[in-house]
Amino acid sequence: MSAVQIAHHSGNVASPVGSVVDLFRRLRARREIDRSPALLNSAMLLTLGAAAIHFAVAPDHLAEYTIYGVFFIGLGLAQVALAAAVVLVPSQRLFTLAPAGTAAVIGLWLLSRTVGVPIAPIPWHPEAVGFPDVVATLLEGISVIQFLRLFRRPRRPRGRGRIRAALKMIPMVLFAPLATYLGVGAALSPMPVAYNAAPFVPGQTSTSVVNLVAPPPRTERVKDFTLTASVTTIGGRQAWAFNGTVPGPELRVTQGDWVRVTLVNHLPAATSIHWHGIRVPNADDGVAGITQDAVAPGGIFVYEFIANDAGTFWYHSHQDAMNEIPKGLVGSIVVEPNDAAKSRVLDYSVLVHTQPGSDAIEVNGTSSLHLDAAPGDRVRLRITNGAVPGLDLAPLTPVLMGAPYVVAALDGHDLNGPQELGPERIPLAMGQRADLIFTMPAAGSVRLVGLKETTFPWESPSSPVVTIGDGPALTSVNVASIPSFDLTRYGTPALDPVADAGHYDVAREIVLGGGFAFRNGSADLTDTFSGMASPSIPPIRVREGQLVRLRIVNPGDHSAHPIHIHGHVFTVLAKNGRPLAGSPVHTDTVLVGPHETWDVAFKADNPGIWMLHCHILMHAASGMSMTINYDGISTPFTMGTRSGNVPE
Ligand code: C2O
Ligand code: CU
Repeated sequence: MSAVQIAHHSGNVASPVGSVVDLFRRLRARREIDRSPALLNSAMLLTLGAAAIHFAVAPDHLAEYTIYGVFFIGLGLAQVALAAAVVLVPSQRLFTLAPAGTAAVIGLWLLSRTVGVPIAPIPWHPEAVGFPDVVATLLEGISVIQFLRLFRRPRRPRGRGRIRAALKMIPMVLFAPLATYLGVGAALSPMPVAYNAAPFVPGQTSTSVVNLVAPPPRTERVKDFTLTASVTTIGGRQAWAFNGTVPGPELRVTQGDWVRVTLVNHLPAATSIHWHGIRVPNADDGVAGITQDAVAPGGIFVYEFIANDAGTFWYHSHQDAMNEIPKGLVGSIVVEPNDAAKSRVLDYSVLVHTQPGSDAIEVNGTSSLHLDAAPGDRVRLRITNGAVPGLDLAPLTPVLMGAPYVVAALDGHDLNGPQELGPERIPLAMGQRADLIFTMPAAGSVRLVGLKETTFPWESPSSPVVTIGDGPALTSVNVASIPSFDLTRYGTPALDPVADAGHYDVAREIVLGGGFAFRNGSADLTDTFSGMASPSIPPIRVREGQLVRLRIVNPGDHSAHPIHIHGHVFTVLAKNGRPLAGSPVHTDTVLVGPHETWDVAFKADNPGIWMLHCHILMHAASGMSMTINYDGISTPFTMGTRSGNVPE
């Protein structure tokens, strides 16, 4: 090498611009042209995608545990550098280091999700698997494969190599950005750590829900119960049960009784009890994260209320209800009227529920229930649907065969002047109740059929049957051919203060819907009230004494939504704009079928923070849940990961 050349060379190094140009030149020279650009670009996209997800989760981690936040920012930066290196300086060495490093990151993730890692908020404690981290790991996993293929140095593409290479890239060019979008979107809308449905506002006076309790007993009629929730085995299947049975014990009280129920939690998870349909004081409503903290394993909680309304009600967990109800945490509670007439009637409650650990449905814990009655006896059959609906999410349609009957009450509230009916299918969605009254026929037996749900074709759960009395078996009936009961034109009209009011202080339209959205750290199908999903649906704000009207619109083609209100009772005003033609109907759960609009109203006479939600548990959990907030009431409880309260 001549002196001039040396001088020229060193001069070039001295200039910064020149040195960058030179660096690039050398890099280009080292870039091996026989690597497939499709592979290089897809490895880059996959790595960038994982980096983007790591950046997206970093802010939450920074707030929660700084070391994690810093780790994820560092990891994201390293992956950006790796992505750049893949396209700019691909080399054998890079494709040795890249898969090894990426595999190490995947290994660390696996470790943290199984046995835990030593540096963590709780060392050696496995963390929950989230949607964004699954997507990031998927991207990394595929990138490892691409790195290894690059390491194998595919031969120089021949002929229409460029077109072939471009075509080969299409799947990855579609997949990597889509996965990145889903992972980042989910990471940016995490599960709330602590969401308060009605926060205390400093400077404003408010009453806490914990103070909204029943007055002290001024009657000697105190009914005391203990419900112990625990894990048991029923018929070889694991169940979560109150007092060891599914359903839990039937609680029977008389109107006006002062009821005290002590919940003892022996489950491995937190739980609560909600008194579905009973207008309890707000502090006793049992909604984890709104009216109480979920009762921790080993804990107890005492519910106290006066049974003001006679009727058929039921109780169930309102913590992680979507999982705890099907496991068996359900039971009937009957409030008998405070008069003598009841002694002349055989009174049975039948709770239809999901068999724990299966999709089958049962009645009072069996698939064929027998109840005693003799010809001539008057029977009141209180039917509650506490079963998770089948595939079509349709209501059950119980049919009473063998005797004419009246529908005496819906959701525990008596109907006015009910007429006698022949067999009719009574649409009964989850949460709803119907009381039938009939006289036992001379033939001896009456049956309740039609308790079948739609399931997968390969499952054939038999329909449970309730037989009342003894007599010849009925020939089987084709339930589908039986007419359907219509509550809008049944019974006799009567005056009704809420229906006749004509003027409502508060009105809200709720359009039932759903769609794809990012929610609770996942990319999911959500179920919505007017396009919004919980917990971000603005509450219905009311003042005590106001009349509130809701118009619930179901524009959908498929599912029927049983919309349930806590602490109040709806008066049904109209269906599809047509006012009721029969008895006034008072209900806590209104079934809004496809293409139906229901107008309902209620009097705001029970201060508190009250839930309003779809009783299809899956729908409530994926967004169809909101609250009715009374002015001047706040709650100290929160929902979300930090509190552990998950009402739905
Ligand atoms: Cu039966 Cu909020 O529930
Ligand atoms: Cu629903």
